[in-house]
Amino acid sequence: MIIEDFMPPTGESSVRDRLLAGLRSYPKMIPSMFFYDHRGSELFEHITGLEEYYPPKIEIPLLASTARKLRHELKDCDIVELGSGDCSKISVFLDEVPEDIRATMAYYPVDVCKEAIEKSACNLHVKYPEMEIHGITADFLEHMEKIPGDRKRFFCFFGSTIGNLSEAKAMEFMGNLGEVMNDEDRLILGMDMVKDIDVIERAYNDSQGVTAEFNKNILNVTNDNLGTNFDPDDFEHVAFFNREYSRIEMHLRAKRDMEITVPGLNEKMIIVKDEMIHTENSHKYTAKDIEKLADAAGLDVEEVFTDDRKWFSLVEMVKR
Ligand code: SAH
Ligand code: AVI
Repeated sequence: MIIEDFMPPTGESSVRDRLLAGLRSYPKMIPSMFFYDHRGSELFEHITGLEEYYPPKIEIPLLASTARKLRHELKDCDIVELGSGDCSKISVFLDEVPEDIRATMAYYPVDVCKEAIEKSACNLHVKYPEMEIHGITADFLEHMEKIPGDRKRFFCFFGSTIGNLSEAKAMEFMGNLGEVMNDEDRLILGMDMVKDIDVIERAYNDSQGVTAEFNKNILNVTNDNLGTNFDPDDFEHVAFFNREYSRIEMHLRAKRDMEITVPGLNEKMIIVKDEMIHTENSHKYTAKDIEKLADAAGLDVEEVFTDDRKWFSLVEMVKR
């Protein structure tokens, strides 16, 4: 088992600059990538088990059927999973692959969260000792060239994490992915589809408040990187569906006026009561969007695996 780390350390200047740029903009924003420190990844795992959070409940059975269709093509292949998190989804996929085929494969989980990569790589090494595991701590928007490419690869991007990118970023990401993919490579892309708005809004406003805690934890990550004095309890979780952009938006609304200090900088950040900090978008897609993303990458849609209600799609794409 190998683990490589390409992420800048906590508090490094490029990380500070990204956070500061978002907090100096109007309205204020914090990139959603910063949800995923150790605690944020744990909270996301908790979210996936919530009754209201429907996407994994649909995607997991689709993963099993996709794996059954593809398992005989996996011999001597590398699986590259982008935003792999706790790697529970790839386990569902790998469980359908015969052991003798797994023994010819290598798995490359790629995630910004170092703890998630270390923990999941170890767990998978125990579960599938016959398979080579090569964890990569990296930003899939920046470090695509770090992914080895000398064998046929299955790129997996599950959970509709693509939906957390703006439309422009998602197109750019798909373009980059299309460029690094070779003729025989494939992409399996998880996409959460447009559905009843109440169902979507409930998934981001769960009754146990786990999503609220996940949202507020981004302020702890901001404090760790900038040395700021945000108190997460001074903010309220807000999540709603924006029809114009077909996305859930998550924000943090200030409960009072406050002054945030940024050590090392001669500036205080003023936040007024009811001011919102935008923390996440989660786009919900239509069949047309599947084609648009494939076009941006120069890929063809080979097959769309979906459920009876068409709530979630696992889309298999190949080089055009
Ligand atoms: N694929 C898993 C986890 C989804 S949560 C699932 O479907 O359950 C989103 C994951 O993407 C997190 O683990 C987060 O750390 C990772 N992530 C978010 N932005 C990223 C980026 N720019 N580069 C690499 N990983 C990223
Ligand atoms: C990782 N990503 C696809 C999740 C989503 O649904 O957008 C993150 C999340 N945010 C709140 N709940 C879950």
